[in-house]
Order: sequence, then structure tokens, then C-alpha cells
Amino acid sequence: MENLSFIRPADRIASFKPYFFAQLTQKIADLKAKKVDVIRIDIGSPDLPPADFIIDTLVKSARRSDTHSYTPNGGTPAARKAVATYYKNRFNVDLEPMKETLILLGSKEGLFNLSQVLINPGDVALVPDPGYPVYSASGIIAGAEIYSLPLLAKNQYLPDLDAIPPEFVRRAKILWLNYPNNPTGAIAPMEFLAKAVEFGRKHHIVVAHDAPYVDVCFDGYEAPSIMQVPGAKDVTIEFNSLSKAYNMAGWRLGMAVGNPLVISYLSTFKSQVDTSTFAPIIEAGITALTGDQGWLMERNLIYQRRRDIVIEGLHAAGFTVETPPAAIYVWAKLPDGNTDSMAFCSRLLQETGVSTTPGLVYGACGEGYVRISLGTATGRIEEAMERIVNWTKVKA
Ligand SMILES: Cc1ncc(COP(=O)(O)O)c(C=O)c1O
Repeated sequence: MENLSFIRPADRIASFKPYFFAQLTQKIADLKAKKVDVIRIDIGSPDLPPADFIIDTLVKSARRSDTHSYTPNGGTPAARKAVATYYKNRFNVDLEPMKETLILLGSKEGLFNLSQVLINPGDVALVPDPGYPVYSASGIIAGAEIYSLPLLAKNQYLPDLDAIPPEFVRRAKILWLNYPNNPTGAIAPMEFLAKAVEFGRKHHIVVAHDAPYVDVCFDGYEAPSIMQVPGAKDVTIEFNSLSKAYNMAGWRLGMAVGNPLVISYLSTFKSQVDTSTFAPIIEAGITALTGDQGWLMERNLIYQRRRDIVIEGLHAAGFTVETPPAAIYVWAKLPDGNTDSMAFCSRLLQETGVSTTPGLVYGACGEGYVRISLGTATGRIEEAMERIVNWTKVKA
């Protein structure tokens, strides 16, 4: 065979490992092949379907002969108008559809692409730790230096913006925020969001607020949009998604809204990278965003019930845990004597068949924690918690 050593990855991806869940899925497939009954409470993928009227729109649209061509870059004008309508109805925020909104193939690509359009090598990205891994991964690929912002229980999992050293503030291009938060389930008060906008304006840093859980709230809480902060559009872009809000994770539909310049950079970049998405998906997304929102409350009650089952089980198993007011995660400190989250979750999976996510996946400050997702059938969550409680009793 010819020497193929010249086929090497580019430097920018050479040290990259596969995304955690890509590796975990393989491990779980191996266990299932050995007939282990694995319960997945790791990945944040809703198990419930969207409302029927959304699926009906998809089916009807797919049956038409005029919906199978390419769709406009950045989404159809109707889809961008629907995003603006949703922001007006939900947050009383006014957006210019063609300038201040953009349709994404799920929000993950938008987050990744934001780093590509704003970061030059050597720039700094301010990234929450723990945090959704794409913020730092996309920055590293763009050549950024990552400055981690610890999210600590004692600060209600909000970053201390005043503690960032001036030399990092000076070089920073993006401040990443995410509330309701993955993985901690924490929320941000309006005053904090206003402070972040002010920080961005003062230091000439784009504030990127990632808000895919804004419509998954419990106990009557309603999460705000950062776009409600007066003047937010001057420096802010918000990512949102139909994945969790409308149980449409596999459909790959999300949106960016906010600063028109940032939207235009993303739009230009995306026009070279993708060719938008399937019209029936867009049309069903419009129905989701502008149709009856009543079913979301019932769906959130199902998550809330699951959350309470998880909290009760974790307390019984010796974890330290607070009750999250939003998002689909419970973030728990490992029982005393356990500090290595990777080893803990790996043992738990091998010995009980329950798959959870080690806190370390979300950054160094996540070490010592585990994340549990509520996107699994209630009965299976109950069973997972029973297995965890019994397992920790045996270990004690
Ligand atoms: C904080 C956060 N942002 C973004 C995403 C990506 O969502 P999607 O690409 O499905 O819109 C996720 C998915 O889990 C997430 O947790």
C-alpha cells in the first residue's frame, strides 16, 4: 500500500477528540449488544414529540410538489417573520425580520459559526465553565484563547464579570452566556443580563446569549430574553432553538436574533457553508412559533414531575442538589468521597446500566458533579433513580 502519511488533519483540528456523546453512544451500543438494559439520562434530547398540528404541517407540506427545492439562505422571509412574531408575542421585543433574525440548522451550527465570523487568532473568548462545549471548541478552531468564567454554586452559577483581568477583557471578542443554563439549570435575573449588555457595550465585546431552554420553565417561572434589555441589539446576539422548546431536536431548526451586523456576518458565512433547510421543516417551524403555545405548559409539567423524581432520588442517594427552575437538567454534586466524575459515571453505567453525564465534560469547574437529563420517559427515570439509590446503598 502506498504511504498515506501525507493525509494528516489540519493543525486546527489535530488535537480534537470526538464530541463526548458520540463516544458515549458507541459505549452504550456495546453494552446493549451484551443485553444490558441501559437507561439514558445523559443527553438532553427530548423524548416527547411536538404537538400534532406541527407534524400535520410537515406532512402536508412534504406532500406538495413545490416544497422540494432549495430554500433561501438564512431562511424564508415567512420564517424570519415568524421568529419576529414569536419574539413580539413572547418577550414584547421588536425585530426587523430580514435584518435582525436568521434561521439556523439548529442553534449548534450558529454558535459554532459565530466564533468563525468574529474571532481572529489570538483574540480572547470569554466562556462559562461549566458550559456547553461548543463555545470553547468553536473558539479554539478559530484560534481563540479561551478565558474561562467559573460558574459557582455560591454565585448562583452567574459569572463574575468584574473579576476578569483587564488584559483579557481588552482582547475579548465574545462573551458567551447561557440562561436557563446547561448543565446547571440555573437562571439569570434581568439585572444580570442588563449588566452583561453594559459590559459588552463598555468593552466592545459581542455578548452571545444562548437561550434554547427559555421556554422550558417550572413552578410558574418565565425566563427572559436578553433582547428585552434596552439597547441590547447594539452588542448582543441571542441564539434560540426549536429543539427543546418544541420537542423538535432532530428536525434541526434554530434561530439567531439581534445585532444586524453580526446577523449579516453569520448570513454571509452560512451562504458559503450550507444551503438552508427543507421547506416543510421550515413551514412546520413557523406553525410551532406562531401557533397555539398552550401545549408547552403541559409538557413543562411532565418535565417538572420528572425533575422532582430525580431530586428525591438523588437526595436519597447522598448527592447534594438544588431544584432547578428551568431547562431539562439536574446538576448534582457527587456523594461524599467521590471527586472524579468520569470514573463515577463510568462505574455507574457499568454496574447499573444508568448512563449520566460527567460534569467534567462541561469544563474543569464541572468536576465533582454529574448532570442528569429529564428527556427520558417518566417510568424509566423512576427506574434509573431506584437503581442509583440501591447502588449507592450497596457501596456505602
Ligand atoms: C446550551 C445549549 N445550546 C445549544 C444547544 C444546541 O441545540 P440545537 O443545535 O439542537 O438547537 C444545546 C443542545 O443541547 C444546548 O444545551
